[in-house]
Amino acid sequence: MKLNGKIAVVTGASRGIGKAIATRLASEGATVAINYREDAKPAEALVSELNSRGFKAQAFRADVSKPDECQTLLDDVVKTFGRVDILVSNAGIEHFGKLEEITPQDFERVFSVNVAGQLFVTQAAARYLPSGGRIVLTSSVSARIAVFYHTLYAASKAAVSAMVLNLAPELGERGIAINAIAPGGTATDMAKENGKFYTHPALQDLPPEALLKSKAALQRLAQPEEIAATVAFLVSDDASYITGSTLAIDGGRL
Ligand SMILES: NC(=O)c1ccc[n+]([C@@H]2O[C@H](COP(=O)([O-])OP(=O)(O)OC[C@H]3O[C@@H](n4cnc5c(N)ncnc54)[C@H](OP(=O)(O)O)[C@@H]3O)[C@@H](O)[C@H]2O)c1
Repeated sequence: MKLNGKIAVVTGASRGIGKAIATRLASEGATVAINYREDAKPAEALVSELNSRGFKAQAFRADVSKPDECQTLLDDVVKTFGRVDILVSNAGIEHFGKLEEITPQDFERVFSVNVAGQLFVTQAAARYLPSGGRIVLTSSVSARIAVFYHTLYAASKAAVSAMVLNLAPELGERGIAINAIAPGGTATDMAKENGKFYTHPALQDLPPEALLKSKAALQRLAQPEEIAATVAFLVSDDASYITGSTLAIDGGRL
């Protein structure tokens, strides 16, 4: 129970990696604010599941692509629980598209969630976080590998690593650590829908197992719980001298 007594916010927490992170932090003793964008049902189902296991959690609606909703989310969490110690910014969206097909609307949609969403939820949390507070943003292996037609998403995730690097000294003055995780392919809806695009277009009909073998030394996808374990480490006292870093959790990217 390394996080006993801590209050944590996890964005995009009703499914996929966010759900695993929320579950892991709650199981370590944190009270967890489960952020969802629109559909309250899966978020409330997760809250019920966690409560039934004796863990503390509550659902909070906010679209992180809207800076005012990021602020309202943090205000509501602090009103409800009295303070906040940990922010995990996990919400994100995928995009594949050829250069000539990318529209200003695509750019706005992807960057408003993956970049502005992570920046403004960080700004909102930083207004409340005490010394010892922890922030984890979500980058991706995609920030440092070339994939066909992945420019928008990869650029948005590369921005996240630059943000944590540059926010580290500013937040460090207040004793707050900020890092990013860079997952590789992880078994979620996002990977199910987009996994096959992570290879040369001529090879996209290969069986998924062949693609997996060619992409990670461990020759399998990550499970969301394996990503959550790294986040639990980063927000714990065991990571007290780590800030400004982007940690790869990619099974040994090939
Ligand atoms: N899966 C991978 O292979 C992989 C690899 C590297 C990095 N990542 C990153 O890891 C994070 C989680 O990915 P995942 O695979 O778990 O994705 P996912 O299964 O598609 O889930 C994404 C989550 O983000 C939420 N979300 C999206 N836009 C939001 C918004 N505007 N406001 C609040 N919540 C929003 C979604 O809520 P709704 O249910 O409302 O849509 C959902 O809960 C993302 O940042 C992703 O880019 C994933």
